[in-house]
Amino acid sequence: MSSQKLLATFEQFLKVNLPLTKSFHPHFDHAFGEMLDVGGKRFRPLLLLSVVENTQPLLVSNALHVALAIEMIHTYSLIHDDLPCMDNADLRRGHPTLHVSYDETTAVLIGDALNTHAFYVLANAPLSAEIKVKLISILSGDAGLYGMILGQAIDCFFEDKPLNIDELSFLHVHKTAKLIAASLLMGAVICEMKKGDQETLYGFGLKLGLLFQVQDDIIDATLSKEEAGKPTGNDGHKNSFVNLLGLAGANREKQKLLEELKSELTKLEEPLSQTLRDIINNYFKG
Ligand code: IPE
Ligand code: IPE
Ligand code: MG
Ligand code: MG
Ligand code: MG
Repeated sequence: MSSQKLLATFEQFLKVNLPLTKSFHPHFDHAFGEMLDVGGKRFRPLLLLSVVENTQPLLVSNALHVALAIEMIHTYSLIHDDLPCMDNADLRRGHPTLHVSYDETTAVLIGDALNTHAFYVLANAPLSAEIKVKLISILSGDAGLYGMILGQAIDCFFEDKPLNIDELSFLHVHKTAKLIAASLLMGAVICEMKKGDQETLYGFGLKLGLLFQVQDDIIDATLSKEEAGKPTGNDGHKNSFVNLLGLAGANREKQKLLEELKSELTKLEEPLSQTLRDIINNYFKG
Protein backbone atom coordinates (compact mmCIF):
# COMPACT_ATOMS: atom_id res chain seq x y z
CA MET A 1 0.00 0.00 0.00
CA SER A 2 1.34 3.46 -0.82
CA SER A 3 1.62 6.13 1.91
CA GLN A 4 -1.33 7.89 0.32
CA LYS A 5 -3.46 4.77 0.58
CA LEU A 6 -2.37 4.16 4.18
CA LEU A 7 -3.35 7.73 5.04
CA ALA A 8 -6.74 7.30 3.32
CA THR A 9 -7.27 4.03 5.22
CA PHE A 10 -6.50 5.84 8.47
CA GLU A 11 -8.90 8.72 7.66
CA GLN A 12 -11.67 6.25 6.95
CA PHE A 13 -10.94 4.34 10.18
CA LEU A 14 -10.95 7.57 12.18
CA LYS A 15 -14.31 8.65 10.77
CA VAL A 16 -15.93 5.31 11.57
CA ASN A 17 -14.34 5.00 15.02
CA LEU A 18 -14.77 8.53 16.35
CA PRO A 19 -16.48 7.93 19.67
CA LEU A 20 -19.82 9.67 19.95
CA THR A 21 -21.33 10.39 23.32
CA LYS A 22 -24.95 11.47 23.55
CA SER A 23 -25.73 13.80 26.41
CA PHE A 24 -27.77 16.92 27.06
CA HIS A 25 -24.59 19.07 27.11
CA PRO A 26 -25.14 21.73 24.42
CA HIS A 27 -21.80 21.20 22.61
CA PHE A 28 -19.50 18.69 24.36
CA ASP A 29 -20.57 15.64 22.34
CA HIS A 30 -19.90 17.37 19.05
CA ALA A 31 -16.75 19.19 20.20
CA PHE A 32 -15.01 15.97 21.32
CA GLY A 33 -14.09 14.85 17.79
CA GLU A 34 -13.92 18.27 16.16
CA MET A 35 -10.16 18.81 16.19
CA LEU A 36 -9.50 15.19 15.15
CA ASP A 37 -11.99 15.51 12.34
CA VAL A 38 -10.74 18.77 10.81
CA GLY A 39 -7.46 17.24 9.69
CA GLY A 40 -3.76 17.50 10.31
CA LYS A 41 -0.85 15.85 8.57
CA ARG A 42 -1.29 12.51 10.42
CA PHE A 43 2.50 12.18 10.49
CA ARG A 44 2.59 9.94 13.60
CA PRO A 45 -0.13 7.48 12.46
CA LEU A 46 1.59 7.23 9.07
CA LEU A 47 4.92 6.35 10.69
CA LEU A 48 3.37 3.62 12.83
CA LEU A 49 1.31 2.18 9.98
CA SER A 50 4.30 2.27 7.60
CA VAL A 51 6.38 0.17 9.99
CA VAL A 52 3.58 -2.39 10.25
CA GLU A 53 2.69 -2.39 6.55
CA ASN A 54 6.31 -3.01 5.57
CA THR A 55 6.98 -5.65 8.23
CA GLN A 56 3.73 -7.54 8.98
CA PRO A 57 1.12 -6.26 6.48
CA LEU A 58 -1.60 -8.55 7.83
CA LEU A 59 -1.49 -6.59 11.11
CA VAL A 60 -2.33 -3.19 9.56
CA SER A 61 -6.02 -3.44 10.47
CA ASN A 62 -5.12 -4.22 14.11
CA ALA A 63 -2.56 -1.39 14.14
CA LEU A 64 -5.15 1.19 13.03
CA HIS A 65 -6.52 1.22 16.60
CA VAL A 66 -3.05 2.06 17.92
CA ALA A 67 -2.54 4.75 15.26
CA LEU A 68 -5.84 6.33 16.35
CA ALA A 69 -4.73 6.30 20.00
CA ILE A 70 -1.52 8.14 19.07
CA GLU A 71 -3.41 10.73 17.00
CA MET A 72 -5.79 11.29 19.94
CA ILE A 73 -2.85 11.97 22.26
CA HIS A 74 -1.24 14.29 19.71
CA THR A 75 -4.53 16.17 19.15
CA TYR A 76 -5.06 16.60 22.89
CA SER A 77 -1.54 18.04 23.14
CA LEU A 78 -2.39 20.61 20.44
CA ILE A 79 -5.69 21.61 22.11
CA HIS A 80 -3.89 22.25 25.40
CA ASP A 81 -0.89 23.88 23.65
CA ASP A 82 -3.29 26.44 22.13
CA LEU A 83 -4.90 27.44 25.44
CA PRO A 84 -4.43 31.01 26.69
CA CYS A 85 -2.17 29.74 29.50
CA MET A 86 0.20 28.21 26.93
CA ASP A 87 0.49 29.60 23.36
CA ASN A 88 -2.86 31.39 23.24
CA ALA A 89 -3.64 30.44 19.63
CA ASP A 90 -7.00 31.00 17.93
CA LEU A 91 -6.52 28.73 14.89
CA ARG A 92 -5.49 25.09 14.56
CA ARG A 93 -5.63 22.91 11.45
CA GLY A 94 -7.29 25.86 9.71
CA HIS A 95 -10.14 25.76 12.23
CA PRO A 96 -10.96 27.99 15.23
CA THR A 97 -9.54 26.49 18.43
CA LEU A 98 -11.97 24.97 20.94
CA HIS A 99 -11.47 27.63 23.61
CA VAL A 100 -12.43 30.23 20.97
CA SER A 101 -15.44 28.35 19.56
CA TYR A 102 -16.69 27.30 23.00
CA ASP A 103 -14.76 28.14 26.18
CA GLU A 104 -11.59 27.21 28.05
CA THR A 105 -13.38 24.68 30.24
CA THR A 106 -14.52 22.77 27.16
CA ALA A 107 -11.03 22.85 25.62
CA VAL A 108 -9.35 21.62 28.81
CA LEU A 109 -11.88 18.83 29.29
CA ILE A 110 -11.81 17.67 25.68
CA GLY A 111 -8.02 17.53 25.88
CA ASP A 112 -8.37 15.46 29.06
CA ALA A 113 -10.91 13.19 27.38
CA LEU A 114 -8.73 12.61 24.31
CA ASN A 115 -5.78 11.79 26.56
CA THR A 116 -7.69 9.23 28.60
CA HIS A 117 -9.68 7.85 25.67
CA ALA A 118 -6.47 7.11 23.77
CA PHE A 119 -5.67 4.55 26.46
CA TYR A 120 -9.23 3.18 26.31
CA VAL A 121 -8.75 2.62 22.56
CA LEU A 122 -5.35 1.01 23.14
CA ALA A 123 -6.59 -1.26 25.92
CA ASN A 124 -9.41 -2.48 23.67
CA ALA A 125 -7.34 -2.93 20.48
CA PRO A 126 -7.36 -6.39 18.85
CA LEU A 127 -3.83 -7.30 19.96
CA SER A 128 -2.44 -9.59 22.67
CA ALA A 129 -2.53 -8.35 26.26
CA GLU A 130 1.26 -8.60 26.44
CA ILE A 131 1.78 -6.35 23.42
CA LYS A 132 -0.85 -3.87 24.62
CA VAL A 133 0.87 -3.44 27.99
CA LYS A 134 4.12 -2.66 26.17
CA LEU A 135 2.33 -0.13 23.93
CA ILE A 136 0.63 1.53 26.90
CA SER A 137 3.97 1.78 28.69
CA ILE A 138 5.69 3.41 25.70
CA LEU A 139 2.87 5.87 24.95
CA SER A 140 2.28 6.92 28.54
CA GLY A 141 6.02 7.46 29.07
CA ASP A 142 6.88 9.31 25.87
CA ALA A 143 3.72 11.43 25.77
CA GLY A 144 3.89 12.06 29.50
CA LEU A 145 6.42 12.62 32.21
CA TYR A 146 9.41 11.26 30.28
CA GLY A 147 8.56 13.11 27.08
CA MET A 148 6.04 15.61 25.85
CA ILE A 149 4.81 16.98 29.17
CA LEU A 150 8.33 17.65 30.43
CA GLY A 151 9.13 19.32 27.09
CA GLN A 152 6.03 21.49 27.22
CA ALA A 153 6.80 22.47 30.84
CA ILE A 154 10.31 23.58 29.87
CA ASP A 155 9.02 25.33 26.71
CA CYS A 156 6.48 27.37 28.67
CA PHE A 157 8.65 28.13 31.70
CA PHE A 158 11.62 29.34 29.66
CA GLU A 159 9.73 31.80 27.45
CA ASP A 160 11.80 35.01 27.45
CA LYS A 161 14.69 33.10 29.08
CA PRO A 162 17.12 32.00 26.35
CA LEU A 163 18.43 28.42 26.54
CA ASN A 164 21.68 27.17 25.05
CA ILE A 165 21.68 24.82 22.06
CA ASP A 166 21.95 21.63 24.16
CA GLU A 167 19.05 22.74 26.37
CA LEU A 168 17.03 23.64 23.28
CA SER A 169 17.67 20.17 21.82
CA PHE A 170 16.58 18.61 25.14
CA LEU A 171 13.38 20.68 25.01
CA HIS A 172 12.58 19.72 21.39
CA VAL A 173 13.45 16.06 21.87
CA HIS A 174 11.05 15.88 24.80
CA LYS A 175 8.14 17.97 23.56
CA THR A 176 8.07 16.57 20.02
CA ALA A 177 10.64 13.89 19.15
CA LYS A 178 9.74 11.33 21.78
CA LEU A 179 6.16 10.93 20.57
CA ILE A 180 7.40 10.62 16.99
CA ALA A 181 10.00 8.02 18.04
CA ALA A 182 7.29 6.23 20.05
CA SER A 183 5.13 6.01 16.91
CA LEU A 184 7.86 4.07 15.09
CA LEU A 185 8.68 1.96 18.15
CA MET A 186 5.03 1.04 18.73
CA GLY A 187 4.85 -0.19 15.14
CA ALA A 188 7.94 -2.30 15.79
CA VAL A 189 6.40 -3.71 19.00
CA ILE A 190 3.18 -4.67 17.18
CA CYS A 191 5.34 -6.57 14.64
CA GLU A 192 7.46 -8.12 17.43
CA MET A 193 10.65 -6.96 15.74
CA LYS A 194 14.00 -7.92 17.26
CA LYS A 195 15.04 -5.74 20.23
CA GLY A 196 18.04 -4.33 18.33
CA ASP A 197 15.86 -3.29 15.38
CA GLN A 198 13.37 -1.67 17.77
CA GLU A 199 16.19 0.37 19.32
CA THR A 200 17.48 1.41 15.89
CA LEU A 201 14.01 2.62 14.90
CA TYR A 202 13.53 4.53 18.16
CA GLY A 203 16.90 6.28 17.77
CA PHE A 204 16.03 7.13 14.17
CA GLY A 205 12.67 8.49 15.39
CA LEU A 206 14.29 10.79 17.95
CA LYS A 207 16.36 12.41 15.21
CA LEU A 208 13.37 12.53 12.87
CA GLY A 209 11.32 14.19 15.62
CA LEU A 210 14.02 16.78 16.22
CA LEU A 211 13.99 17.53 12.49
CA PHE A 212 10.19 17.80 12.66
CA GLN A 213 10.35 20.47 15.37
CA VAL A 214 13.16 22.36 13.60
CA GLN A 215 10.90 22.49 10.54
CA ASP A 216 7.97 23.58 12.74
CA ASP A 217 10.12 26.45 14.04
CA ILE A 218 10.96 27.40 10.44
CA ILE A 219 7.23 27.28 9.55
CA ASP A 220 6.52 29.77 12.37
CA ALA A 221 9.06 32.17 10.87
CA THR A 222 8.28 31.76 7.18
CA LEU A 223 4.64 30.80 6.50
CA SER A 224 1.43 32.81 6.77
CA LYS A 225 -1.37 31.86 9.14
CA GLU A 226 -3.41 30.68 6.14
CA GLU A 227 -0.59 28.51 4.79
CA ALA A 228 0.17 26.97 8.18
CA GLY A 229 -3.46 26.66 9.36
CA LYS A 230 -2.32 28.05 12.72
CA PRO A 231 -0.99 31.41 13.92
CA THR A 232 2.63 32.04 12.89
CA GLY A 233 5.23 34.62 13.84
CA ASN A 234 4.48 33.79 17.45
CA ASP A 235 7.76 32.19 18.54
CA GLY A 236 9.63 35.48 19.00
CA HIS A 237 9.82 35.14 22.78
CA LYS A 238 10.28 31.36 22.69
CA ASN A 239 13.25 29.07 22.50
CA SER A 240 13.15 28.02 18.86
CA PHE A 241 15.89 26.95 16.46
CA VAL A 242 15.23 30.07 14.38
CA ASN A 243 15.68 32.34 17.40
CA LEU A 244 18.88 30.67 18.50
CA LEU A 245 20.55 30.04 15.12
CA GLY A 246 18.76 32.48 12.80
CA LEU A 247 16.70 31.32 9.81
CA ALA A 248 19.75 30.34 7.75
CA GLY A 249 21.22 28.46 10.73
CA ALA A 250 17.94 26.62 11.35
CA ASN A 251 17.81 25.65 7.67
CA ARG A 252 21.40 24.39 7.86
CA GLU A 253 20.46 22.31 10.93
CA LYS A 254 17.48 20.93 9.01
CA GLN A 255 19.71 19.88 6.07
CA LYS A 256 22.28 18.34 8.42
CA LEU A 257 19.62 16.25 10.20
CA LEU A 258 18.12 15.23 6.83
CA GLU A 259 21.50 13.98 5.57
CA GLU A 260 22.16 12.07 8.81
CA LEU A 261 18.72 10.46 8.68
CA LYS A 262 19.17 9.39 5.08
CA SER A 263 22.45 7.70 5.90
CA GLU A 264 20.92 6.01 8.99
CA LEU A 265 18.18 4.58 6.79
CA THR A 266 20.71 2.17 5.33
CA LYS A 267 20.71 0.37 8.73
CA LEU A 268 17.04 -0.56 8.25
CA GLU A 269 15.74 -3.36 6.09
CA GLU A 270 13.87 -2.96 2.81
CA PRO A 271 11.09 -2.20 2.01
CA LEU A 272 10.73 -0.18 5.26
CA SER A 273 13.88 1.79 4.55
CA GLN A 274 12.62 3.01 1.15
CA THR A 275 9.16 3.84 2.54
CA LEU A 276 10.64 5.99 5.32
CA ARG A 277 12.92 7.66 2.74
CA ASP A 278 9.83 8.54 0.66
CA ILE A 279 7.99 9.89 3.73
CA ILE A 280 10.97 12.06 4.67
CA ASN A 281 11.32 13.39 1.13
CA ASN A 282 7.63 14.20 1.10
CA TYR A 283 7.35 15.88 4.52
CA PHE A 284 10.65 17.81 4.42
CA LYS A 285 10.69 19.25 0.94
CA GLY A 286 12.53 22.48 0.25
C1 IPE B 1 2.36 20.41 15.51
O1 IPE B 1 2.29 19.08 15.09
C2 IPE B 1 2.99 20.44 16.86
C3 IPE B 1 4.35 19.92 16.85
C4 IPE B 1 4.70 18.93 17.59
C5 IPE B 1 5.36 20.54 16.02
P1 IPE B 1 1.89 18.73 13.59
O2 IPE B 1 2.65 19.63 12.66
O3 IPE B 1 2.04 17.27 13.39
O4 IPE B 1 0.35 19.13 13.56
P2 IPE B 1 -0.82 18.52 12.69
O5 IPE B 1 -1.16 17.20 13.29
O6 IPE B 1 -0.33 18.39 11.27
O7 IPE B 1 -1.96 19.49 12.84
C1 IPE C 1 3.93 22.16 20.52
O1 IPE C 1 4.94 22.88 19.93
C2 IPE C 1 4.33 20.78 20.63
C3 IPE C 1 3.34 19.99 21.39
C4 IPE C 1 3.73 19.02 22.11
C5 IPE C 1 1.93 20.29 21.34
P1 IPE C 1 4.50 24.24 19.24
O2 IPE C 1 3.84 25.13 20.19
O3 IPE C 1 5.66 24.77 18.47
O4 IPE C 1 3.41 23.68 18.18
P2 IPE C 1 2.56 24.62 17.22
O5 IPE C 1 3.54 25.44 16.44
O6 IPE C 1 1.65 25.42 18.08
O7 IPE C 1 1.84 23.64 16.35
MG1 MG D 1 3.83 25.43 22.25
MG1 MG E 1 1.97 26.23 19.90
MG1 MG F 1 5.53 25.69 16.60
